[in-house]
Amino acid sequence: MNLRLMFPKINPRRSQLKADKQTRAMRIDILTLFPDMFESPLSCSIIKRAQDSGLIEIALTDIRDFSTDSYRKVDDKPYGGGPGMVMMPGPVFDCFEHVQKLSDEKGRVLLLTPQGQKFDQAIARRLSAEKRIIFIAGKYEGFDERIRTGLDAEQISIGDYVLSGGELAAMVIIDAVVRLLDGALGDEDSAKDDSFSEGLLEYPHYTRPEVFRGMKVPEILLSGDHAKIAEWRRRQALERTKKWRPDLLKETEKKKEN
Ligand code: 6GU
Repeated sequence: MNLRLMFPKINPRRSQLKADKQTRAMRIDILTLFPDMFESPLSCSIIKRAQDSGLIEIALTDIRDFSTDSYRKVDDKPYGGGPGMVMMPGPVFDCFEHVQKLSDEKGRVLLLTPQGQKFDQAIARRLSAEKRIIFIAGKYEGFDERIRTGLDAEQISIGDYVLSGGELAAMVIIDAVVRLLDGALGDEDSAKDDSFSEGLLEYPHYTRPEVFRGMKVPEILLSGDHAKIAEWRRRQALERTKKWRPDLLKETEKKKEN
């Protein structure tokens, strides 16, 4: 008799992870005029793995499918005149209401716009606790203002520059959020030391070889003295933050005062 079959090897840690995952699966909906843009980014690396393992579920919905026009029109000329086209509220509202009903969880609704609150690691952390996130990606040229005021959405931007649409911003946010979910990264600890996780840039890393083109790995990292290494890394993180991103230190101080 084949004992391996009778007593299949079970890695307790792994099955525990799987059980946790099932209770915590996050649903991500994306409403967009360009669903094709998401194909490759969502089917690679950590986001692919997170979907394959049931940690997250991503659904793309084409706003154009909710056009009531025979030409599948979703935008129109601005009232009052001016250049460019404005996204009509009808297809966006119909699409949103259809999508929201696809799950019992109402979800956190994010409207992607350069006018939104600037995305950062703290927002990523907050979003990683949500059971469902619904992204609405529009063309920058403009949504009809009633999309902003009529939907109970949080406006979010990824920085002070203008993108042609919210799609790339949604991908940035999804990547930053998903990697924070328990079980998304290979090594459970590897998000902890990330830059910004404590308001500091990350310390420098080295791997083999010990000497590369005359450049040596710092002696301390070869010492095996873990306490000293931790102290060195902390100091390095602080020093490079001071040098390259002093604004981060000021922000951390401000937060401590409050
Ligand atoms: Cl979320 N959308 C657009 N169109 N441009 C942006 C942005 C979002 N964040 C920064 N620039």
